[in-house]
Amino acid sequence: MAHRLFEGKEHAAAYWKYRISPSDHLIQQVLDFLEKQVGAVDVGCGSGQGTVLLANHFASVVGTDVSPAQLEEALEHAKRPNITYRQCVAEELPFDDSSVDLVTAMSAFHWFDRPRFLQEAHRVLKPHGCLALLNYSMDMELSCNDGCSHSLNQVCKEVLMACFGQE
Ligand SMILES: C[S@@+](CC[C@H](N)C(=O)[O-])C[C@H]1O[C@@H](n2cnc3c(N)ncnc32)[C@H](O)[C@@H]1O
Repeated sequence: MAHRLFEGKEHAAAYWKYRISPSDHLIQQVLDFLEKQVGAVDVGCGSGQGTVLLANHFASVVGTDVSPAQLEEALEHAKRPNITYRQCVAEELPFDDSSVDLVTAMSAFHWFDRPRFLQEAHRVLKPHGCLALLNYSMDMELSCNDGCSHSLNQVCKEVLMACFGQE
């Protein structure tokens, strides 16, 4: 049973607007694991911030998500011809066995039926392919382009203190 907490056009639009993208540095660290960069699949892609970053490095990138609203938002921002989107659950990916170089799940793995997704990722990945599970941690520094990084990090620290009593 997929989690359906990311539905609704407004939610998807807010997601695209406010979601913090993974850094180029992080994407580069993932790429360093790969021998080839032909096909990538971004599972639980949401509104596609991470999918778009992968498209700079792969011949073809497919973003997949269970939520039609998130995919609709992602499509509005997919300006590159090598990006496509598919609606499906993470546990049943519409790709052939051994056909994909990289599978990513960015801030999404915790929502999946993890044993089934891992089996599915194993099935679609080529030998020596890479599965990258990216997520935020408590110990993180965020950056944003409009000069508010310091304030943003302060707010996050205050929230962490309030929720968990730690920075
Ligand atoms: C926290 S969002 C992350 C979106 C995006 N990867 C990002 O980093 O901004 C999690 C996404 O996973 C999707 N999702 C949750 N469970 C899923 C499942 N079982 N199969 C496919 N997508 C799923 C949700 O619809 C949502 O778009």
